[in-house]
Amino acid sequence: MPSQSISQGIGRLSRPHSVIPILLRARHSRSFTCSPKQQKASDWSAVQYLKFEDERTRPVRDLLAQIPLQSPKHIVDLGCGPGNSTAVLAARYPHAHLEGIDSSPDMIKKAREVLPNIPFSIEDLNSYVPNQPVDLFFSNAVFQWLPYADRINVIARLIQTQPSGGVFALQVPDNFLEPSHSAMRDTATKGRWAATLDHFQPALDPFQSVQELYNHLKPLCSTINMWHTHYHHVLENHEAIVEWVKGTGLRPFIDPLSSGERGGFLEAYLERLKQIYPISYDGKVVLRYPRLFVVAVRA
Ligand SMILES: C[S@@+](CC[C@H](N)C(=O)[O-])C[C@H]1O[C@@H](n2cnc3c(N)ncnc32)[C@H](O)[C@@H]1O
Repeated sequence: MPSQSISQGIGRLSRPHSVIPILLRARHSRSFTCSPKQQKASDWSAVQYLKFEDERTRPVRDLLAQIPLQSPKHIVDLGCGPGNSTAVLAARYPHAHLEGIDSSPDMIKKAREVLPNIPFSIEDLNSYVPNQPVDLFFSNAVFQWLPYADRINVIARLIQTQPSGGVFALQVPDNFLEPSHSAMRDTATKGRWAATLDHFQPALDPFQSVQELYNHLKPLCSTINMWHTHYHHVLENHEAIVEWVKGTGLRPFIDPLSSGERGGFLEAYLERLKQIYPISYDGKVVLRYPRLFVVAVRA
C-alpha cells in the first residue's frame, strides 16, 4: 500500500461523510519528558518531524491493520503529533468520532491546520482523562517519551476507562540498543558538552519488554497481540540519519546545548555514524529501525 501524506488524508476528510549500567541509570533517573526546564525550552518541530513523513507513518498502517474493530464510535489518537496518524485513522474509520491529543503546541497547531474538521487539544498523557468511553485508543511513536515507570501506569489507567471489547493499540520504536542511538549516548560523554548532558541525562529510557507488558496488561484484557517489525530505511547518506533523529530521539541531546556546542555535537555524532553504517554500492545508507507493536483488547 503506498504511503499517504497528511494532504491525502485531508482529501479524504473533505468527502461528504468525512470525517544495561548507563541504561539502568537512565531508566531510574529523571528523563527528558520529566524535566519542566527542558520541556519548556524545546517544543517539538512539526516541520523537522515531517521530513520523513512517509517512513514515520508506515507503522501507523501496520498497526491499524491488526485492530479488530469494524466501526468504533469514539477514537482518540494519543500523541497525535502533526496529524499524520490521525489522517490515517480518519480514512479507515470515516464515521467515528475522532479526536487527537498531544502535549506539543507546535504539533497541535499543525494538526489543526491540516485536519480542520477534527478536534485537537493540548493535553499531557500523564494527566489526560477521556470525557467519554473510548472504543479505540491509538498511539503511534509516543509512549517511549514517557519515563519508564509512568508508561505502564498511564496505559493501564486508560485501558481501565474503556468498555469491554475496546482496544488500546500502540507502536513504539524499540531502538535503545541500535547503533544510531548508542552513538548518541557515546557522543554525549565525549566532548565539551559532556558536563551539560550528564546533568540533563538526555537518553530516553528503553522500552518495557513484551513480558513486562503482558504481565501488567493481561489482567485487564481478553487478548494481547504483540510483535516487532524491523524496518530497513534506505536513506540518501549519513547526514540523512542525523536529520531523521533530529526530529525525535536526538532532540533531548541537542536542545540543552549552546549553538556552538550543538554544531560540535552534531559533527561528532555524524563522524560516529560514518564509522558504524556502511555506504552501499549506490552511496545510500540503510538504517535499521525496530518497532514494537501492541494491540490490547479490554476484557
Ligand atoms: C514521534 S511523535 C508521533 C506523532 C504521530 N503520532 C505519528 O504517528 O507520527 C511523538 C508525539 O508525542 C507527543 N508527546 C510526547 N510526550 C507526550 C505526553 N506526555 N503527552 C502527550 N503527548 C506527548 C509529542 O509532542 C509528539 O507530538
